[in-house]
Order: sequence, then C-alpha cells, then structure tokens
Amino acid sequence: MAKKESHIKTTMEEGEIYHPPEEFKKNANINDPGIYKYAEENYEEFWAEKAERLDWYQKWDKVLEWDAPFAKWFVNGKINASYNCIDRHVENGKGDKTALIWEGEPIDESKSYTFSELKDEVCKFANGLKELGVEKGDVVTFYLPMVPELAIGLLACARIGAPHSVVFGGFSPTALADRVQDSDSKVLVTADGYYRRGKKLNMWENALETLENTPSVEKVVVIDRLNREDISLTEGRDTYYHDLVENQSLECEPEKMDAEDMLFLMYTSGTTGKPKGVQHTTGGYLTGTSLTHEWVFDIKEDDIYWCTADIGWITGHSYIVYGPLANATTTIMYEGSPDYPEKDRFWKIIEKYKVTKLYTAPTAIRLFMKWGRKYPDTCDLSTLKLLGSVGEPINPKAWEWYHEVIGGGKCPIVDTWWQTETGMILITPLPGITSLKPGSATKPFPGIQADIYDAAGNSLPPNQGGYLVLKRPWPAMLRTLYNDSDRYKKTYWNEYGSDIYFAGDGARQDEDGYFWVVGRIDDVLNVAGHRLSTMEMESALVDHPAVAEAAVVGKPDDLKGHVPVAYVILEGEREGSDELEKELRAHVGKIIGPIGKPAAVNFTRDLPKTRSGKIMRRILKKLEAGEEAGDTSTLRNPEIVEELKKQVSN
Ligand code: WT7
Repeated sequence: MAKKESHIKTTMEEGEIYHPPEEFKKNANINDPGIYKYAEENYEEFWAEKAERLDWYQKWDKVLEWDAPFAKWFVNGKINASYNCIDRHVENGKGDKTALIWEGEPIDESKSYTFSELKDEVCKFANGLKELGVEKGDVVTFYLPMVPELAIGLLACARIGAPHSVVFGGFSPTALADRVQDSDSKVLVTADGYYRRGKKLNMWENALETLENTPSVEKVVVIDRLNREDISLTEGRDTYYHDLVENQSLECEPEKMDAEDMLFLMYTSGTTGKPKGVQHTTGGYLTGTSLTHEWVFDIKEDDIYWCTADIGWITGHSYIVYGPLANATTTIMYEGSPDYPEKDRFWKIIEKYKVTKLYTAPTAIRLFMKWGRKYPDTCDLSTLKLLGSVGEPINPKAWEWYHEVIGGGKCPIVDTWWQTETGMILITPLPGITSLKPGSATKPFPGIQADIYDAAGNSLPPNQGGYLVLKRPWPAMLRTLYNDSDRYKKTYWNEYGSDIYFAGDGARQDEDGYFWVVGRIDDVLNVAGHRLSTMEMESALVDHPAVAEAAVVGKPDDLKGHVPVAYVILEGEREGSDELEKELRAHVGKIIGPIGKPAAVNFTRDLPKTRSGKIMRRILKKLEAGEEAGDTSTLRNPEIVEELKKQVSN
C-alpha cells in the first residue's frame, strides 16, 4: 500500500496565536469550554440532545447502533430533511424570511426565495419528479451548473425520498456516465448550458453523449439556462424544467423517511480508477451538518451566509443547502467565476448582500492574494464577522492575508477539516472558545475523537507525524459505499481494526493538542481543493493509443496546492513532442473533465520501479518537489532516477 511509502513531514511552521476577540466571545453561541468535557463524557446523550433541534415524526428508540464498521444513528426515528429545511420554518413564522439568494454570473441577474417561495418551488419540482415516475428509493442524478434549480432539486428529492446524486458540472460525459451507471439512475436533471467568464458554455451536448451509454436513464429534465434554440428534445424522454413544473400543485406531502434511509450519494475519487459512491443517510446527517453549521459559523438569526463552493461537491451539500437551511439561515449561491466581470466579484457580492459569514477555500484565497488587495479594498467588507476555510491546509501566509485584508483583522477564521465521507466538519475551532494558530484546523468538534497513529496503530506523542484516525462514530458519517460494502471496509476500517476510521491524511498533533493536517498519504491528489485519483488519470492516459505506461504525481503549486504531472512511456518507437503532450492533456481532460488535465507530460523511456514492478511514485513526487530522491537501492532501475532528474530540472 502507498501509505508505507510515504514520508510524512511537517510543512507548516507555527507562528502567532489569535485569541477570540472579547466582544466576539461574549456574544458567541458557544463560549463555555465545558462543552468539550460534557460531550466527551456524555457522548450519545450529547448527540441525542442535538438531534432534538430537528422535527421528527417519530422519535428514535436508540441513539446509536454500532456494529463496527456499520453504524445506525437514531434507530427507528422518522424524519424528512426537506420538511426540516423549509416547512417547519414557515410554520414557525419565518415564511417571509429569505432562504436562498442566487447570484447569476451576468451582473444584475439574481433571484431570491423566501422560505414560503422555496417551499412552493420544491413542491412543484417534487410533484414533477413524481409525474416522471420517480418513487421513494430511486436515485436521481443532477448534472448542473450553479442554478437555483439545483438546490431546489436536492430538497425536492429529499421530500419524496428519492436519493440524489449530484455530479459536478465540470466533469466529462465519461465521468458522468460512470456515475449514472453505478447508481442506476432513471432520471437525469441537466441544463442546456451555463455562463462562465461571460461566455456561454454548452452542457446539453455532454448530456447527450452521456445518454448514449446510460440505458438506465428513462427521463431527462432540462433547465433552459441559456434559452438555446438550437437544441431539440427527444419526445417521451426529455422535458424542459419549466414545462414540468408549470401546472404542478404547491402541496407535496413530505415522505416520512427512516433516519437511516439514504439521503444522497456523492461520488468521490479513491485510489483505484472507479469512483466511490459515498452513501449518506438522513437523521444523523442533518443533525451533524446543522449543529456544526450553527456552532462553527456562530450562526445568528440575521446572518447572511455565503459558502462559495459548488453544490457538485460535499461542501455545497452540507454547507450551502442542508446545514444552513435546516438552521433557517439565509444562504447564498453564486453561479460564476470570481473574476467576472472583474477580479472584485466576490467582494462586490459581499458588499451587495451585506454578507456576514464567508466560507471559502485556500486555493481561492491564494488567487485573491495574487490579484492584490486593491480589489477587496475598494469594496465595503465591514459586515463580515467570521471567515471559514476548507479543502486543504491553509498556509499561514494566506491565513494572515485572509484575516487582515478580508476580515479587517477582526474576524475569527475557522479552518475546518472534514471529508466527503465524514459529511460534516470534524476538526475545527469553535470561534468563541478556540485560540487560533494559522495553518491548524485546531481541535476535534465536541463529541469527536481524533488521534494520530503510527503504522502499527500506536497513538503518537506530540509533534510526531502519522496518520489521522477517528476513534468513534459520528452522526453524519458515511454508512457505506453504494453497492460495495467490501470496499467500504477495506478503504476506511481496515488499517487499525473495524472500529477505527482511517482518513487517508497525514497529520500531527502539537503540544497543545492542535491538529496539523499535512495532506493525503495515498494516491489521491488534492488539486485546488478537489480530490482527484492519480489512478483515474493514469488509466485515462494509457487509454490513448500512443501511451504504453503512465504515472501521475502531484507537483507543489503556489495557487492550487498541487497540480498533476504525468510521466509517460510511449508505445514502440513513438517520440514525444509538444503536439503529443497537448493531445494527451486534452485526452485526459476529455475522459475526466478539465480539472483532471495534467499540468505537464514528461516523456520517458522508463519509470522508477521496484523489483516486483511497482511504480515508485514517491520518487517522482520528490523530483517534482525539487527534493532528493532518497533511497533508490530497492529499485530495479535506479539509473532512471538520474535521467529523470536531469529532465525535470530542464
Ligand atoms: C480531503 C477531503 C471537506 C470538503 C472539501 C474536500 C483535505 C479538507 C482540510 C483542512 C487540511 C483539508 C484532506 C481531506 N482537507 N479540509 N481544513 N485542512 N486538509 O472534500 O474532496 O472529500 O477531500 O481534503 O486531505 O482528507 P474531499
């Protein structure tokens, strides 16, 4: 396993400590540090109390059933996520409060929905889905840009008990087809296209290409974002969204779902080429996401909260849609790019809506730093009270910039560690309690037990690098991988026994118990906060007729954290060239999607391999990072390392 090859080192240096500002602390939802001890000692009661924040049709008889590694939370509880995110707020007199603000990329195109209006839209779409034959348990796949119908669609599915599977709109038809096939979806919801940096981009063409390989799909719903007149729908299969919802009733009784019924699937990359269908359920997920949202972002009634993620990823599910709406928080979604029409678009949005809480990613922050402070400095950001970060470790320099330039030196920064699989934030400051160390996600959320293990499963003393593990189940955890419980067990619960979750991250804890996550230790790349599998990229490369063998590794990058770089052995007598490099990059882009394109392709006659023929990616990684290759004595072909070193330094 790749883990044994990796050499974990600490790249973050500790600097200044930031204590919660007095005023912030005084008004914070959670400012008594006793909560950690309480949750630790009364772990199940703690979560049971927190589940009471939701409305249940029927209360659970048992908080947790832990048949490691299979968990059931709130056993026999009955609940509906859509009801909890919408109806109950309407019933509690918040019908006129703004639930969702949608900002289109074209300037001056925006929409907002009150909780009552959102309820109407969700009911119409839910009834439309029923009309198409969607029943409880049927998976509906969404392949959409950031349009309001995506958020509405998630809640419509939740309302009728149809699990959703959202595939990021930037993925290719091949990647989409893999995910549709794996989930056996009968319905695909897509769009004619979308806006990106002012240009109109096609989406329908991708959907059509996908549909050639997805016989399970019987119905397609098309959102006409671009009002295109050059597309023709197939009678009996395709319907425009506006036609589907036009005459639907505004009432749709929410299904009484079991707490453990599947709420959604979210596909994510693993160490093999086949994406994993991470399965999340209803009661625990909503408890975990709504509680963390309220506590970590210190949510108040009048907050205007903006998470800049795409709903195509878990962050958008948990912290644009479910967490905020379950808390009756006004949540913003933005359709487009941060530099359209100008590089100040984010700051203009904050000014326009008087945003109070901003949640974004280090890769974006580094980009803003590069663009310079003149963009934020011309906008009024004084409404901001707290800033969040997620997706990868944030380097202290970017942290300081975010704190100073965006937060005006007065906003706590919550650096939140979690994963698609964890569903909810697990390691994070509580902003009214935790002193911050730039670059550290600080401490486990109350009730969460995290630790650092060595390869043998010993808990490591402070400041020794090892593997991040979780030692207790948590309510929003994944329950399994769709149709693949074996892979679920092998991937997450195998290293240290069936009750210790192996996160796949290298990390250390410092002398104050703060966690410092270094990054992935397996063959997974984190590119601009997006998880990509090197195996997926390698198999896309060898799929090209010119390629005999390929290895992909991450190269450190100032903006994106890492970028993928490929090493390729060509077939027969073929020679590498700039054209071929371009062609291979495009080929991978076509199979995976633009985010999967390698930044560079190195042609080589051989790859460093062990005697048993395993490619030593660790050595390639070191070359890319400009480090010494280290011990090459176990290689079958140590001479290739010198050759590649010369090539890389050229
Ligand atoms: C991986 C999970 C969770 C939503 C976004 C990504 C890395 C995430 C942090 C952080 C250091 C982080 C980890 C993790 N990661 N947040 N605050 N500090 N690393 O979700 O695609 O499932 O990726 O992202 O490596 O394992 P994902």
